[in-house]
Amino acid sequence: MKKEANEEVTGHSQLTMQVVEHVRSLIAKGEQLFEKGVPERNIVACATCHGKNAEGAGIFPRLAGQHAEYIERQLHVIQDHLRKSPVMHGIIKDLKPDEMNALASFVQSK
Ligand code: HEC
Repeated sequence: MKKEANEEVTGHSQLTMQVVEHVRSLIAKGEQLFEKGVPERNIVACATCHGKNAEGAGIFPRLAGQHAEYIERQLHVIQDHLRKSPVMHGIIKDLKPDEMNALASFVQSK
């Protein structure tokens, strides 16, 4: 009985580690996109306007600490022109769903 219980605990913590690893790599991918953009696809670094730590300034909204779900949703609706955002439309028109997901995880982590 004791042994089984231990196995269960070990199993759970391995799963937790996998989730933690996944989130870490998602944030790292988002950080790369946020700071460097994707030059070969003409996607400008988000940091240029939103600030290195997504802190925002003036007309550029703060993204740091916003819920990832909210940010990801905004990226989709802006890309689909359901939300008007003249500056953002051109910048994110070729951003892929997995990139939006990574960017959203990154800004939430700041
Ligand atoms: C040239 C400057 C510029 C760049 C580069 C830029 N943005 Fe923006 N972004 C803006 C401006 C201005 C707004 C505010 C317009 C609005 O709210 O519609 C905005 C709004 C947003 C919003 C909505 C925020 C909210 O509170 O709802 C998100 C999300 C966002 N940007 C993400 C990004 C990401 C991710 C990138 C990089 C791929 C990026 N932006 C690159 C200027 C920029």
